[in-house]
Amino acid sequence: MFIVTNPLRHPPSWSKEPWLFKMSGVRRFIWIILVATVFILAISRNWMLRHLVVPSIAYSVTNRASQSMDPEEMYRYFHWTNSTSCFLAVDFGFCVATGVGIAAPDGHKAVCLDQLIAPIYKNCLVYSFGINNQWTFDEAMAQYGCQVHSFDPSMGVGDYNRSQHIHFYNLGLSGKNEAHPTTQWNLKTASSIYQMLGHQPTLIDVLKMDVEFSEWDAIPQMLRSGFLADTVKQLAVEIHFNANDTLETFRRYAGILQDLESSTGRFVRFSSRPNPGLKKPVSILGGKEEYIGMELACTD
Ligand SMILES: *[C@@H]1O[C@H](CO)[C@@H](O)[C@H](O)[C@H]1NC(C)=O
Ligand SMILES: *[C@@H]1O[C@H](CO)[C@@H](O)[C@H](O)[C@H]1NC(C)=O
Ligand SMILES: *[C@@H]1O[C@H](CO)[C@@H](O)[C@H](O)[C@H]1NC(C)=O
Repeated sequence: MFIVTNPLRHPPSWSKEPWLFKMSGVRRFIWIILVATVFILAISRNWMLRHLVVPSIAYSVTNRASQSMDPEEMYRYFHWTNSTSCFLAVDFGFCVATGVGIAAPDGHKAVCLDQLIAPIYKNCLVYSFGINNQWTFDEAMAQYGCQVHSFDPSMGVGDYNRSQHIHFYNLGLSGKNEAHPTTQWNLKTASSIYQMLGHQPTLIDVLKMDVEFSEWDAIPQMLRSGFLADTVKQLAVEIHFNANDTLETFRRYAGILQDLESSTGRFVRFSSRPNPGLKKPVSILGGKEEYIGMELACTD
């Protein structure tokens, strides 16, 4: 005889109820606890990534004193310098620029020669961004025996070795690796350039920057990535404003400098000098004349 099993009396297990309800009470309970645990772990990991891990490396100009500064306070802050943070600040690369009827010192940067922070004679590394055919600073640092790497994408000149000590690159500094939207200049972040040149783990004794407003993209990137705090001993930067910049723009700039000088950047400003050729009536000061270009120097 054939024993015929009736499919209707023994339906396959998937046919009727959801599998969870067919388990015994204990097994169902264990499954629910397991799924809930995985779910809670996944959510809390995302929460931790967002709230605990990211802020320690992230960088934002928020909640800082600069965000409530009035225009006069802001200019006092730009002009301020910590006179006890460097006793021996020396100008490298002074020259006299003669314009229409005016003669002004130009091209020089303050470098701190205090014992612990000074570049070591004949054993130092300098990055110099923004040359504009003005080599006085680079040549002075080369005379001091430093290896100088000079960058400028605006001169229309390819990479070349200017001397045994001065190495030129047709490259610009920015907040990201990109081609400049209008000029197509090749722009890179400081960390990418440092990697490209294979200088790790040598520290940069002096990083000079005169990059016509790109400093406001480059400095935040260098802070965010930790490059400034980890790799740069002294920073000499010309900062730029537009005479018609809004209060919000000025506050953003002041916030970037405060981050540079906070626990994020750990830099101490030892020199702040106006660019004498850049005194203009400034909108946020109601047309009062102030400087829209200043030279800052600070040490790590
Ligand atoms: C000024 O510099 C000195 C030495 O680096 C430092 O101890 C002090 O905290 C600085 N003061 C301010 C207001 O930044
Ligand atoms: C410059 O000199 C260095 C060695 O000091 C060399 O590696 C490099 O290729 C040279 N650069 C150019 C553009 O000639
Ligand atoms: C502000 O000044 C800059 C440079 O002088 C100029 O290019 C720009 O058009 C001005 N903007 C406004 C809104 O006036």
